[in-house]
Amino acid sequence: MLFKQQALLRQKLFVLGSLAIGSLLYLVARVGSLDRLQPICPIESRLGPPHLPEQIPLRTLQYKRGLLHEIRKGNATKEQIRLHNLVQQLPRAIIIGVRKGGTRALLEMLNLHPAVVKASQEIHFFDNEQNYARGIDWYREKMPFSFPNQITIEKSPAYFITEEVPERIFKMNSSIKLLIIVREPTTRAVSDYTQVLEGKERKNKTYHKFEKLAIDGNTCEVNIKYKAVRTSIYTKHLERWLKYFPVEQFHIVDGDRLITDPLPELQLVERFLNLPSRISQYNLYFNATRGFYCLRFNIVFNKCLAGSKGRIHPEVDPSVVAKLRKFFHPFNQKFYQITGRTFNWP
Ligand code: A3P
Repeated sequence: MLFKQQALLRQKLFVLGSLAIGSLLYLVARVGSLDRLQPICPIESRLGPPHLPEQIPLRTLQYKRGLLHEIRKGNATKEQIRLHNLVQQLPRAIIIGVRKGGTRALLEMLNLHPAVVKASQEIHFFDNEQNYARGIDWYREKMPFSFPNQITIEKSPAYFITEEVPERIFKMNSSIKLLIIVREPTTRAVSDYTQVLEGKERKNKTYHKFEKLAIDGNTCEVNIKYKAVRTSIYTKHLERWLKYFPVEQFHIVDGDRLITDPLPELQLVERFLNLPSRISQYNLYFNATRGFYCLRFNIVFNKCLAGSKGRIHPEVDPSVVAKLRKFFHPFNQKFYQITGRTFNWP
């Protein structure tokens, strides 16, 4: 009996001890991870009104992210929002495209930066007539709460290819920063096709083969009526944007490199946004099961992108791939020339 009691007591002590050690280790690691963050240096005036309040140290922003999270879940009171000076700000940077370029990965990875707050959903304000008619206050209300010296970023890849959007964004903020993430155009077109194909399959519908859509059956030439092909002619779309914004207001992200080695691409974006460099290798780890980099916010919170990102593409007839690559080549050259960024696309 006594032996049984002693064993029980030992078991209890063991559980309590493990809990205490676990908590201690967690606290030490967490403080350690927060200590890595240095005070923020001022975000340049181009990113916001010159009367920005005193910069909040990153450590505070990190801590306050918890509060932002609560607000998103609807758990914060109006009083808390007022007390913490939280606001719904119009975006100071937008990821305007390109669809299937890696827009979600880019947004999520930038959101690792303590001075960046993402709009989780694609808002489709500027490309959707019904939404646009709702006015700018509707758009602002779709934005997440943030601290005044944070920047809000949204992504809606349809903006890049929609005729009316550049003028509309210009009217909202002519000095906004515009991010475009691109991939090798043929791969992007196949990725675009794969997404549509999956949608059809989910609804038990049949769909044409990629080759049939991408090549005109009568002329045997590339079918420029096919949207996935048109979207990949980056220079055509960019030229429309350049009627409103100078080229310096755009930053081109290499979507292929964001897959294989994201950090250098993110550091270039930080620089473009005039943000201090805060995203580090610690925040990104390669997940062999997913075959992609995933995000580590801190010791307890990490995540990979949804399974709909990183689909397996169908095999495409090599002669069609070659035809498409030849077709895109001159457009790519022009794109390199305009943007000053060269890619090794075939
Ligand atoms: P695939 O599904 O063709 O592989 P978007 O978010 O604009 O729709 O882009 C989707 C693409 O993002 C995916 O295309 C995938 O290759 C790419 N991507 C880049 N980084 C990724 C990451 N860390 N996790 C998952 N997908 C990523």
